[in-house]
Amino acid sequence: MYFKSRVVALVLAALVAIVTTAFLSLLPDSTPTVMLVAGLLSFAVTYLLVYVTFEFLVMKEIGEIYNVLNKMRKKDFSFIEEYDNGNSNHPLKRINQEIYKYGINRHREIEDLKKLEAFRREFLADVSHELKTPVFAAQGFVHTLLDGAIDDKKIRKKFLKRAAKSLDNLDSLIQDLLTLSQIETGEIKMHFEHFNIVSIAEEVIDQMESKAEDKNLTVRFDSAYETPIFVHADADRIYRVLTNLVSNAIKYTLEGGVQIGFEVKSEKVLVYVKDTGVGIPPEHLTRIFERFFRVEKSRSKEMGGTGLGLAIVKHILEAHNTKVSVISTVGKGSTFSFKLPIGQSAEEMEEELEEERLELESLGEDNR
Ligand SMILES: Nc1ncnc2c1ncn2[C@@H]1O[C@H](COP(=O)(O)OP(=O)(O)O)[C@@H](O)[C@H]1O
Ligand SMILES: [Mg+2]
Repeated sequence: MYFKSRVVALVLAALVAIVTTAFLSLLPDSTPTVMLVAGLLSFAVTYLLVYVTFEFLVMKEIGEIYNVLNKMRKKDFSFIEEYDNGNSNHPLKRINQEIYKYGINRHREIEDLKKLEAFRREFLADVSHELKTPVFAAQGFVHTLLDGAIDDKKIRKKFLKRAAKSLDNLDSLIQDLLTLSQIETGEIKMHFEHFNIVSIAEEVIDQMESKAEDKNLTVRFDSAYETPIFVHADADRIYRVLTNLVSNAIKYTLEGGVQIGFEVKSEKVLVYVKDTGVGIPPEHLTRIFERFFRVEKSRSKEMGGTGLGLAIVKHILEAHNTKVSVISTVGKGSTFSFKLPIGQSAEEMEEELEEERLELESLGEDNR
């Protein structure tokens, strides 16, 4: 670069000097000394100007561009940290910044793809592992029966029951996987409506009560909700969210109980499920929403957990543009909560429609 800008400066300076001297020679009263001085001066000034412009304003930037391109070719993205976000007026600097930006975007895309690929691989491994467990167990029981255990009446029943339980686990795992994939691919569209969340929660409590009673636990509202609380959401999916949260609360609680509660805050309804259970260690709090993540693998599996319940909860709530939060203390219990937009009762909706109709009518009359 250094050599090239010098050559360009020399050639240009010589040209300017020649033109200046030639021009001066046309004037009647110019002496050779004047012509020489003018020639030398214009040569020196042009040389300096061109050289400085080239070297510091153009070549330096071009050199930088080559530098970045070279690094990108070698897949070295450490320059991203050096990238300054300033907007320059210098066109070459701008080109350089554009290349920087391009490099950064490319780099991010590649990183995302790598993450996705790792995630896919991990997921496939997890799914096969999770499927293998119940199939393997059922297979074992059935084969033992075929190998002769079928003749013993007591063992026959016991083994058949265990095989059936494994197959039930397999069934719920497949159901959960299907639900997850359907939500992800957008196959099941959310069906938003206005409904009373208190009555939905009541249904969940009714459904879960026997499960809780088996463990000597209670499931109830934290206070009496006498008036309905309307929310705008997909009722079936929210029912699913509540069942998953309450069933977890029952599963991971040894004594005490589970409470469902609501808090109405401006335009939003906060729904929470509180338990007095084993709690979740803080280092696992962010991970429990990942597929197949369990704090204690063996305990969860024993109780028929698929490890997908909270992943489904997270997905459903994301489709509602909201998210689930959790507060937990080991040994004391956990509280899962989420917000839903406040809804309208049937009467309120009718009133609103009526108001709109009246407004339209009065507009029509005004126009007449
Ligand atoms: N209420 C809770 N109390 C304590 N731990 C919980 C609670 N809810 C979820 N967890 C933890 O989060 C993990 C993931 O939950 P989930 O996705 O529903 O899977 P599963 O219930 O099948 O184990 C559970 O295995 C458990 O370790
Ligand atoms: Mg669960």
